[in-house]
Amino acid sequence: MDRYAVFGNPIEHSKSPLIHSLFAKQTHQAIDYGRQQPGNDQFNDAIKAFFAQGYIGANVTSPFKLDAFRFADELTPRAKAAQAVNTLYKRPDGSVLGDNTDGEGLVHDLQRLWGALEGKRVLLIGAGGATRGVILPLLTAKVCSIHIANRTASKAHELAAMFEKEGNISSSGFDDVPEVTFDGIINCTSSSLNGDLPQISANIFSEAAFAYDMTYKAQQTSFMQWAKKHNAGIEVSDGLGMLVGQAAESFYLWRNVKPQIEPVIKTVRAML
Ligand code: ATR
Repeated sequence: MDRYAVFGNPIEHSKSPLIHSLFAKQTHQAIDYGRQQPGNDQFNDAIKAFFAQGYIGANVTSPFKLDAFRFADELTPRAKAAQAVNTLYKRPDGSVLGDNTDGEGLVHDLQRLWGALEGKRVLLIGAGGATRGVILPLLTAKVCSIHIANRTASKAHELAAMFEKEGNISSSGFDDVPEVTFDGIINCTSSSLNGDLPQISANIFSEAAFAYDMTYKAQQTSFMQWAKKHNAGIEVSDGLGMLVGQAAESFYLWRNVKPQIEPVIKTVRAML
């Protein structure tokens, strides 16, 4: 049986083993998928031992996405752009491919919920690794523009500069977000995990059609509630579909089979 695992620290609450076991059942594949929690500076030794033991793929989450990026023998263009790897695959020739499926997971979920992204003006809140990973996939899905707003403005500017050749990208701090209409707002910070809100003007929601929070909870996140409060007509979602979507892309890379995402979102949602 082909063996896989998710690496992170902490990892005990990861939904990845559940999600991949649901994919395996759905597509009639026999796989074994576990959890690995190396110490924060032990990723390299742990992943080497892992592949030496015959495992063929890994998902990688915080804090190891940069370690995985450095470990891979070869990188996909989207992993290069994200400068982070969430999926490792040991190919039949023994080399390890590093991919990043997070952005594709987000794009899939936005399209599933709200249709084509072509021509949409998108506001990304936050300028960390989560934001960096989704910029290229959003541009590839033909959004018209991306504005990055971050609490620390300099980080937003750095990220915009990194991708300026790829599309129409602007940046600012929270206080000087341009007063233009955004079609979609995406919270790429983890602020909702503590029930916090990014200290940005609620005017961003005025004309927007959708607001997406990359984190997820059993109930609506603080960000989703905030968006609804300022624009009753806005559609909101948390990031559970992104999580299942990125897992589906990893599964496809490893198994060459695309699992159906929607039933798995439903099952995992019911278990939150
Ligand atoms: P990740 O890889 O998950 O994106 P990160 O690289 O540490 O994590 O980046 C976290 C991002 O969330 C940053 O943009 C951070 O803003 P700063 O650059 O100003 O630190 C943002 N962030 C986290 N908590 C936040 C909060 N409560 N309000 C606003 N921004 C927050």
